[in-house]
Amino acid sequence: MTADTFDLIDEWGPEKIVCVSDRRTGMRGVLVIDNTARGIGKGGTRMSPDLSVAEVARLARTMTWKWAATDLFHGGAKAGIQGDPRGADKERILRAFARALANEVPREYVFGLDMGLTEADAAIFADELGDRGAAVGLPAALGGLPYDELGVTGFGVAEATDAAAARLALDLKGARIAVQGFGAVGQAAVRRYAELGAVIVAVSTAEGAVIDADGIDIQRLIELRREHGDRCVTEYGPAQPPAAALSVDADILVPAAREDVIDVDVAKTTTAALIVEGANLPTTPAARELLHERGITVVPDFIANAGGIVAAAHSMDARQSPFPVEPGAVFTMISAKLRANTDRVIEESRQRDIPPHQAAYALAQERVREAMRLRGAPMERQR
Ligand SMILES: NC(=O)c1ccc[n+]([C@@H]2O[C@H](COP(=O)([O-])OP(=O)(O)OC[C@H]3O[C@@H](n4cnc5c(N)ncnc54)[C@H](O)[C@@H]3O)[C@@H](O)[C@H]2O)c1
Repeated sequence: MTADTFDLIDEWGPEKIVCVSDRRTGMRGVLVIDNTARGIGKGGTRMSPDLSVAEVARLARTMTWKWAATDLFHGGAKAGIQGDPRGADKERILRAFARALANEVPREYVFGLDMGLTEADAAIFADELGDRGAAVGLPAALGGLPYDELGVTGFGVAEATDAAAARLALDLKGARIAVQGFGAVGQAAVRRYAELGAVIVAVSTAEGAVIDADGIDIQRLIELRREHGDRCVTEYGPAQPPAAALSVDADILVPAAREDVIDVDVAKTTTAALIVEGANLPTTPAARELLHERGITVVPDFIANAGGIVAAAHSMDARQSPFPVEPGAVFTMISAKLRANTDRVIEESRQRDIPPHQAAYALAQERVREAMRLRGAPMERQR
């Protein structure tokens, strides 16, 4: 039985759900604008074969909290197309989707990148609506900011790590760090850790893990990745199974690959005093509880990996400007914001003796609630 779409609505939102379809291309898609109390809804656009309205609504809600936790003035939104991102008719479907949302875009929503979409797809959206402001994530040749190439998210993860380590009186210079994942996020984080003087004792990809208590030669690993992709670890050698990176003796653990990898078993045995979530949802709820009991600090994903949304905020702002976004300004803001937010969440978590995730959600919810209150919408009248 399909749940009623009204069931998705609670006191926060969504404010608007727009389902669209197109007979000729078979396009089916949805835009969910969750909560705009703090600003226009913003969140990426994804394409996947089994996409559902409920999934897009959940992601839109996550964006509401992410923007508020980072203290940037956008609201939560997300859009999605149900379809195969590798299909031959992708461009026609994207164009049909853009046309169907022409009433909402760009006034209420701006397309962005998420699973299944690339910079080239953002360019199609902008072209179809005849408006460069209809999408962010455009190729550099159209004035866009190449987030992954610049490594904005990984840089932010490392900045958050440095701020959290300082709180624990752990000097990042000389600290031993293990990183799971060596993609856009993991690699950029490792590069920044090396600049900050940390010793990288483990790095893994889906192909394996390299471990060296004396420190991995990061430059060499980066060069190998350029040539061999995920197989850089086996080329560096000797490689162990990927999971080995999570159980090495380290001061700081950085999951930057997949969800649910830090489970109760890892939480029970890790030697790390600090875990920084580079990936989304890498720590299970049970593991978070256990880590809190063990006095191990976890910097939540939507605090630590918010570098991408700081970059997205700059891109939103620059959509109609002839001047491309200056990466230096983005990095400066990522550093300042993520350090301040990490500090604030750890402080709240300590003062109230609650896990940092709970502290971060509470902080985001307080900000959204206050914005809703100021707009004159008492909570009890929202249902
Ligand atoms: N790219 C961003 O700006 C961004 C922003 C916020 C959150 N994230 C999240 O960060 C995570 C990583 O994103 P990314 O953009 O770096 O992805 P990516 O595809 O560039 O890299 C993923 C890396 O993880 C590795 N990996 C996969 N399975 C593994 C396993 N079992 N063990 C060890 N390594 C494994 C892959 O080999 C690869 O090196 C995802 O959870 C993503 O949602 C990314």
